[in-house]
Amino acid sequence: MSLASLDKTIELTRRIHSRDARIGIVGMGYVGLPLALLFSDERFRVTGFDIDPRKVDTLNKGGTYIVRIPAAEIDQAREHGFTATADYARIAEMDVVIICVPTPLDEHHEPDLSYITGTVNSSAPHAHGGQLIILASTTYPGTTEEVVVPLLEKGNSSGLRVARDDSSPGFYVAFSPEREDPGNDSVARRDIPKVIGGCGPVARDLAAATYGSIFNRTVPVSSPAAAEMTKLLENIYRCVNIALVNELKQLCMRMGIDLAEVIDAAKTKPFGFQAFYPGPGLGGHCIPIDPFYLSWKAREFDFRTRFIELAGEINNAMPYFVVENIMEAMSRRGKALCGSRVLILGLAYKRDIDDLRESPSLTIIELLQKRGAHVEYNDPFFPTVGQGRKYALNMTSTPLNEIPRFDCVVIVTDHSQYDYPGIVAKAKLVVDTRNATKGIDAPNIVRC
Ligand SMILES: NC(=O)c1ccc[n+]([C@@H]2O[C@H](COP(=O)([O-])OP(=O)(O)OC[C@H]3O[C@@H](n4cnc5c(N)ncnc54)[C@H](O)[C@@H]3O)[C@@H](O)[C@H]2O)c1
Repeated sequence: MSLASLDKTIELTRRIHSRDARIGIVGMGYVGLPLALLFSDERFRVTGFDIDPRKVDTLNKGGTYIVRIPAAEIDQAREHGFTATADYARIAEMDVVIICVPTPLDEHHEPDLSYITGTVNSSAPHAHGGQLIILASTTYPGTTEEVVVPLLEKGNSSGLRVARDDSSPGFYVAFSPEREDPGNDSVARRDIPKVIGGCGPVARDLAAATYGSIFNRTVPVSSPAAAEMTKLLENIYRCVNIALVNELKQLCMRMGIDLAEVIDAAKTKPFGFQAFYPGPGLGGHCIPIDPFYLSWKAREFDFRTRFIELAGEINNAMPYFVVENIMEAMSRRGKALCGSRVLILGLAYKRDIDDLRESPSLTIIELLQKRGAHVEYNDPFFPTVGQGRKYALNMTSTPLNEIPRFDCVVIVTDHSQYDYPGIVAKAKLVVDTRNATKGIDAPNIVRC
């Protein structure tokens, strides 16, 4: 065993416990920025890395670009030494590097690891012996060992390799998934247990010591692949159960049964049932995407993930189901969709957040426009909306006092600041995809 390597491990553990360890977080987005602030709260000196110069600039001026993170929190972090940078050479100053970059699907619905590989290629030349590198981006089992480790080793200018134990002078690598639930304040962030899989026990223990300083509980597992799979299981579980209630909603509508009432009754069972709710389709960076990372990987093992594919089919069809219901509700009132005015309430993919990635609203707007409707939207979190990866809306939020000039108002996102009785009172027709009008009895409401 090399004493020098063992010393480095002991030294990093000491630096973590004494809060002297320098923490670098790559990707200052919805996951990376809150994580940086948590470490900063614990008095670590944190450096945020991002390739987006506007984000770097905003953070260094004490500003924010995520609604639920007030600028005061960034300012406070800056007082504890937080800075942002786009300069990868500064990776060399870090004791711990946590990678929180996007993992979307490409145009063929296959994993796009380019953000991870880009980050690792840029970091590798600056990685140093005894440094701990943790991948946090959601991905398929095998990414850390099969993609991250080889790139780090290939790109390291000192020829260092991944250290699997104390006896090697290399860097340590681990995977630990994020369990962010934007807009959900029911559990304090530090009470969310952190699952950790290391490339070897030393990496695992160092990662556990790092996260143990900001989370109350760490859950070590045997390998990075087990940790990668844990995250996917959690999200696939949600995806499949949401598909189940989305399918049952369609059946219940035909049978004249109120599924919302049924779910409320079922969830009184004190064991063996967890309530999931139907909606207009999946949204966000996780549930519509992550399961397909596993489907893709499964093909390498000549295996078809049928539950995931079926759930995807049902969930992806939900925006079409909503549009059919809008058309039917309008035609029952003697109105054709083509040429009519439709107001979409809510662009965000879920209540009370400022994130519209993969939002079903975007698909619904596109489908309505294709059918000739004049579509506008209202969303308190998006005063304007421009060009995205898959859409080009270039629209401005319409004030709610203009509701009377629309033929139909569609509730796609049930933001809590909406006055639903007021909306129903002003609208000619309300199509409610979220059961947001529960308890309001009015002939102009159609729930679907
Ligand atoms: N958003 C969530 O609620 C959530 C929850 C759990 C897990 N995750 C996972 O966490 C990961 C990050 O998601 P997010 O929502 O924070 O994404 P995001 O898009 O909000 O943020 C990612 C950031 O990474 C930056 N970036 C991209 N490439 C970079 C590079 N090469 N170097 C430095 N910065 C780079 C982007 O500019 C952006 O600021 C994803 O894998 C996602 O699946 C997200």
